[in-house]
Amino acid sequence: MLRVGFLTSGGDCQALNATMRGIAKGLYELFDEVEIYGFLEGYKGLMRGNYIKMKPEDFSGIINKGGTILGSSRQPFKLMGEPTEDGLDKVRSMKETYKKLKLDCLCVLGGNGSQKTANMLSEEGLNVIGLPKTIDNDLWGTDMTFGFQSAVDIATQTIDCIHTTAASHNRIFIVEIMGHKVGWITLHAGIAGGADVILLPEIPYDIEKVYKAIDKRTKDNKGFTIVAVAEGALPKEVAELPKKKRKEVIANNPYPSVAYELADKLKAYTTQDIRIAIPGHTQRGGSPDAYDRVISSRFGAKAAELIKAKDFGKLVVFLDNKVTAIPLSESAGKLKYVSPDDDIVSEARTLGISFGDK
Ligand code: F6P
Repeated sequence: MLRVGFLTSGGDCQALNATMRGIAKGLYELFDEVEIYGFLEGYKGLMRGNYIKMKPEDFSGIINKGGTILGSSRQPFKLMGEPTEDGLDKVRSMKETYKKLKLDCLCVLGGNGSQKTANMLSEEGLNVIGLPKTIDNDLWGTDMTFGFQSAVDIATQTIDCIHTTAASHNRIFIVEIMGHKVGWITLHAGIAGGADVILLPEIPYDIEKVYKAIDKRTKDNKGFTIVAVAEGALPKEVAELPKKKRKEVIANNPYPSVAYELADKLKAYTTQDIRIAIPGHTQRGGSPDAYDRVISSRFGAKAAELIKAKDFGKLVVFLDNKVTAIPLSESAGKLKYVSPDDDIVSEARTLGISFGDK
């Protein structure tokens, strides 16, 4: 009898259920007898022994269902080393649950922080397989995470909708897009939605250069401008500050978000109407798109194959157009940023898109 635990950790995304379904289908196919335990609310469930025994029916009809049927939670290790509410050390309690259930493997569907924890549990002797979740696509070691394409689709639809109204009213529209500290969603949705200016955390912007791009459009008789700004984008004067000072300035920023800061700064240059649109958590909601359903199913199949081969301590990844696996330790704690030298950035510049830096 094979006994496997599943948990979904961190911010949710559209293809978590599709991925669990993929692993389960693979396991039911590759093993004669399988028991799957679903831990509720991520690592919290593993710590507290809060789980459900899952049946094959639980995985039926969920390939297109957003969110996670197991629930999720963030930052289980914020208090690492300190006692949990029930007085148990967190690492010890997770190991105890794993051992009590006699698990052969734990599958962790999570992003950067969650995979760091997965690696730690693997180093503690548990058999762990990581699956690369996050709309932000910032997990180091994989070209693609599940959730990313669905989020790009939603952000693109927002830009599409803004386009028609911006054009009707000759307005400057600032669309603020998720992505935490990286600009992958903004870059892709910005290109897909035909944004005129794309501002990313990785390429600090100069407000004068942003205005220059808007002014050029006016001179070219284009009455409106769409600016796609990543939620983590920074003006160059802040990005260039020493780390400690920069953190302080960011923490004390009086604006509700970067879009408001940008709008306020642009008002010093133009009297044109400026409006803001923020799709926010809609980017993480609803059904996974077809791409995510396929990549999640492939990731799930790969995880089942790794379990069959007893090849643990691995993160399933998509690299050079192949679904493969790397050691969890290689990815743990590293973020994958957009590089200003990436081909996609220079191609976008060729298309006339401004990054607000030149
Ligand atoms: O990591 C996914 C993400 O949606 C980021 O893009 C965003 O910065 C963050 O989570 C929002 O977190 P929360 O759901 O906790 O507000």
